[in-house]
Amino acid sequence: MAKIVRLPGLVDIHVHFRDPGETHKEDFYTGTLSALANGVTTVFDMPNNLTPVFTEEVLQNKITIARQKAVCDWGLYFGSTGDNLAEFAKVADKVVGLKVYLSLTTGKYVVGDEDKIKAIFASWPKEKVIVFHAEGDRVDLVIKYTEKFGNKVHITHVSTEADLEKIIAAKKNKLSITCDVTPHHLFLTEGDCPCNGETVPNLYFVKPPLASQKDQDFLWQNLTFIDCLSSDHAPHLMEEKQSSRPPAGLPGLDTLLPLMMTAVSQGRLSLNQLIQLTSVSPAKIFSLSQNDSTFVEVDPEEEYQIDNHKLLTKCGWSPFDDWLVKGKVKRVYLRGRKVFEKGQLLVDSGYGKNVI
Ligand code: DOR
Ligand code: ZN
Repeated sequence: MAKIVRLPGLVDIHVHFRDPGETHKEDFYTGTLSALANGVTTVFDMPNNLTPVFTEEVLQNKITIARQKAVCDWGLYFGSTGDNLAEFAKVADKVVGLKVYLSLTTGKYVVGDEDKIKAIFASWPKEKVIVFHAEGDRVDLVIKYTEKFGNKVHITHVSTEADLEKIIAAKKNKLSITCDVTPHHLFLTEGDCPCNGETVPNLYFVKPPLASQKDQDFLWQNLTFIDCLSSDHAPHLMEEKQSSRPPAGLPGLDTLLPLMMTAVSQGRLSLNQLIQLTSVSPAKIFSLSQNDSTFVEVDPEEEYQIDNHKLLTKCGWSPFDDWLVKGKVKRVYLRGRKVFEKGQLLVDSGYGKNVI
């Protein structure tokens, strides 16, 4: 019998469940099921739905949906383009944080105007996190205003050496800035997605774009400055991804843990580092209390092939289809109850709780 490894339940602070609005791609049930089956016991869902979560009313509706459908624990983000500051006081204690887009992605909710960016910093409660999608010179802006306003700031899916270098400098400067990277930026490079303006981007098209081998090496070499891993689970249908104008985004919940366990087996990071990156540190950043009775049992020796046909995400594909991975989730416990074993979900929709 292989020695089973016990990990604290994973916290994935960045997923897109498309519910409501595009539930043919994913919904709160299928998304949280694919999370649980793969050791993720808490997910934080992003606000860039078709109707973005920019008002208390839209937020309240999403809370109702998540409450009914989720099988793992969950939290939601509020969103802002700088035009809904009056909502902040009404929603701040109902969400895990605020998400602000400073660089282009699905939904096109980018805040370009610097006055609006300043107003967001000034208006969001200082003790609650603001998560930024910021690339290139937008990272400089985030650092500048974090210093000026003293907010608690997190930069998500950092993908390049240049951006991480700036964040490392800000951390050394004692600013309250944390960051995460995604498995797709750790395991894929721009060579996997030639999108040079002439070629139609392929399946691997994502924002931020897959970067160079040098960038990827820098991420791996600087894991100690990276606070957590996030999947940026962004389900789109295969037929959309294969169209002449594919949307950006890659599903990632089904593959986060097996890819990282494989990296542990190869000595690329330690098991303790993996636990810090996927559980301890995200819980700390978002002030979640960790529950000893929420854990995952993994067989670190079991190898299997990622297979599009066996995934639980509704979109039904993975950029890592056919990859051989080592480390299989056997059982998952959430708040003392066995919730997943031998491929079977053992709780009903609605078992998942809001972490707020
Ligand atoms: O490629 C992306 N797709 N990056 C994001 O940050 C958002 C996501 C989406 O919602 O599809
Ligand atoms: Zn995202």
